[in-house]
Amino acid sequence: MVQGPVTVTVTGAAGQIGYALLFRIASGHLLGPDVPVKLRLLEITPALKAAEGTAMELADCAFPLLQSVDISDDPRVAFDGANVALLVGARPRTKGMERGDLLEANGGIFKPQGEAINAVAADDVKVLVVGNPANTNALIAQAHAPDVPAERFTAMTRLDHNRAISQLASKLEVPVTAIKKLTIWGNHSATQYPDLFHTEVNGKIAAEQVDEAWLKDTFIPTVAKRGAAIIEARGASSAASAANAAIDHVFTWVNGTAEGDWTSAAIPSDGSYGVPEGLISSFPVTAKDGKFSIVQGLEIDAFSRERIDASVAELGEERDAVRGLGLI
Ligand code: NAD
Ligand code: LMR
Repeated sequence: MVQGPVTVTVTGAAGQIGYALLFRIASGHLLGPDVPVKLRLLEITPALKAAEGTAMELADCAFPLLQSVDISDDPRVAFDGANVALLVGARPRTKGMERGDLLEANGGIFKPQGEAINAVAADDVKVLVVGNPANTNALIAQAHAPDVPAERFTAMTRLDHNRAISQLASKLEVPVTAIKKLTIWGNHSATQYPDLFHTEVNGKIAAEQVDEAWLKDTFIPTVAKRGAAIIEARGASSAASAANAAIDHVFTWVNGTAEGDWTSAAIPSDGSYGVPEGLISSFPVTAKDGKFSIVQGLEIDAFSRERIDASVAELGEERDAVRGLGLI
């Protein structure tokens, strides 16, 4: 049970995900319906005015749980006392741009933010990186926060997880609640691997309820490329669904997973499933007492092994690239 008030810092607060996220945090969806919240918003200087506009709207909602809203363009101010840090602010991918191109553009943002979290956040800070490339940005922030336990730095693959559940539910014509134990492995990118071989639908393995061609040629690419499809359709990257997934990620982290189920989150690898230690990779995870744990003992067949390895190899390349840029 979380005691309030909880200080939540949101970076990129004036952006489109920020706009979809802040009102749900303030209304109690991030932590629970009884937990008071103090919001701290970080923006770059030119966007401070827009952030102030959002703060005016937050005030106009008269949310019972919202105790305060503070805005700053200084990470050392914005992360002061943060119990939860949502690192959303980054440059979104635009049409035709590969995520790898974002490494250099965004890497520089996460170093000073990691340093500030190290210096001024609360001892129990939990960090979720949403800004892309999320896994590697989380690695950069973590590298600059040596006093914060490494496992507190996580990256978001819950949106991919939710997308996969939705696609499978639609295919099998079942409610989303019938689906348990779905896993996204690897990177939040087109190489991610949504795994149906341990997923249960009404208690039966999902991969056995769909044909192999659909799984391979429709399901996996649809989930993995959904972000690009949204960009193509909206002319902007996903926002409300991304904010919703960020809420889900933190809510689960704080309040735990249900008995008999798990979720997906990118967390620092302990070497499980052959993922090199330290890479922030998506795994099947349970949460209890404010801690994620990797689900152990799953059998990985050759089909899954190949796809997990490919996504993990990409994470290794991204890590090497930011290392080469002196960012970690
Ligand atoms: P946006 O451009 O609407 O907003 C980004 C905001 O971040 C802007 O207001 C900008 O001023 C701010 N910002 C930039 N640099 C900053 C810094 N150093 N400190 C604080 N704020 C800063 O973008 P968006 O649509 O809200 O998306 C944000 C990020 O989330 C993008 O990187 C996008 O690719 C990513 N994203 C991730 C997922 C996921 O599943 N992990 C899903 C969707 C989007
Ligand atoms: C998404 O999955 O919707 C985003 O990460 C897309 C992107 O690359 O910005």
